Amino acid sequence: MSFEFRILMFGIGTALVIFVIIADMSEVEEEIPNIGDLQKFHFKGFMHPTNSSLGLNAAHTPLVTFRKSKVSSSVTPLPYLKGKTSNSSSSEWTFNRTLSNLIRKNILRFLDAERDISILKSTFKPGDVIHYIFDRQRTTNISENLYHLLPTASPMRKQHYRKCAIVGNSGILLNSSCGDEIDSHDFVIRCNLAPVEEYAADVGLRTNLVTMNPSVVQRAFQDLSSEEWVERFVHRLQSLSGSVLWIPAFMAKGGEERVEWAIRLILLHTVNVRTAFPSLRLLHAVRGYWLTNHVQIKRPTTGLLMYTMATRFCDEIHLYGFWPFAHDPDGKAVKYHYYDTLTYHYTSSASPHTMPLEFRTLSALHRQGALRLHTGPCKPPT
Ligand SMILES: *[C@@H]1O[C@H](CO)[C@@H](O)[C@H](O)[C@H]1NC(C)=O
Ligand SMILES: *[C@@H]1O[C@H](CO)[C@@H](O)[C@H](O)[C@H]1NC(C)=O
Ligand SMILES: *[C@@H]1O[C@H](CO)[C@@H](O)[C@H](O)[C@H]1NC(C)=O
Ligand SMILES: *[C@@H]1O[C@H](CO)[C@@H](O)[C@H](O)[C@H]1NC(C)=O
Ligand SMILES: *[C@@H]1O[C@H](CO)[C@@H](O)[C@H](O)[C@H]1NC(C)=O
Repeated sequence: MSFEFRILMFGIGTALVIFVIIADMSEVEEEIPNIGDLQKFHFKGFMHPTNSSLGLNAAHTPLVTFRKSKVSSSVTPLPYLKGKTSNSSSSEWTFNRTLSNLIRKNILRFLDAERDISILKSTFKPGDVIHYIFDRQRTTNISENLYHLLPTASPMRKQHYRKCAIVGNSGILLNSSCGDEIDSHDFVIRCNLAPVEEYAADVGLRTNLVTMNPSVVQRAFQDLSSEEWVERFVHRLQSLSGSVLWIPAFMAKGGEERVEWAIRLILLHTVNVRTAFPSLRLLHAVRGYWLTNHVQIKRPTTGLLMYTMATRFCDEIHLYGFWPFAHDPDGKAVKYHYYDTLTYHYTSSASPHTMPLEFRTLSALHRQGALRLHTGPCKPPT
């Protein structure tokens, strides 16, 4: 196959994935086969919605009807699947390295997180125009400052870790005492610059990579409207010393000013972070992977993005703080974020995300030993 032909095929594939994203969800099913015959690969049935043996068939049924499958009958279901009376822990979980390797290989057909985690200096110059991924008709520029912070090489180049933790921001973490357990991982990923110091006992402190949506500057730091907020923001950035700060700057319009402010403060205070700006193809590629495996997500959440990327760098992946439900298994209210009072309608069709579906998918992967989902309190250190 000539190089040009492969480029052409890649272009067609990418165009199709973009089309699928724009298209109405009802059309998605028909378009997927055109992406390739990946679903015929080993993965078939792995997460097939019509195959009840994998538990993902219940796309519109409540969690509690999730049945123990033939495939995983030897595995204890998660406590919340057993009903309120259970006191069992998920300690019988075992890591399936074969499956984990298989997933990594499959995801690599869609994206290479080592590359797609950030655009690089070598491929852009100041003033280059970028179309927003979700608002194609709107553009932004690579500013001088942003260019300055573009990495020259992937911040994850040649890195590999045995055990990684991805920490979601659900209130399920409150009173979990999971801090030490989370910090014991070799690499810890956090989302949206969530505060840690005040919650260290439950969420830990260690941070190797943290994401920051531009909207965080507004939501959590009052749009830097006063000296005090600027200070708090700079303090939070400084506390990251050496971590990767992953800024999805080109997803949706409206954040350009906030990105620019953050970048200027990083430069002004010579904050020690390694900035990364996701490639323009990452989101489509991640969505393409899940759609091809019949997980009909709308727009992947940061958590799912991080899991998909982490498969590239991590053997065992442990997820904490993923709980897209308003109540815990005992019926107690659970905050959307452990650190603020924001509320969220998990099942709203207006939401850009499909969190309960993502969660069911991750639960299925947990049962198969591909990842480990921690949803209960952690054992106190002995
Ligand atoms: C579901 O899986 C079983 C065994 O894994 C297989 O025999 C069956 O054909 C699958 N059904 C569908 C609809 O894919
Ligand atoms: C856990 O449940 C078992 C029965 O399923 C019971 O015998 C045991 O006492 C329970 N343990 C605690 C700590 O509640
Ligand atoms: C691990 O996953 C592979 C691939 O899905 C499967 O063939 C194998 O049976 C699994 N091993 C265990 C111990 O569950
Ligand atoms: C981008 O750059 C062009 C010229 O280089 C300029 O006309 C335009 O206003 C810039 N847009 C933004 C959003 O900075
Ligand atoms: C956490 O524990 C404290 C003290 O027991 C209690 O006051 C608080 O309500 C608990 N918070 C949650 C979210 O369970």
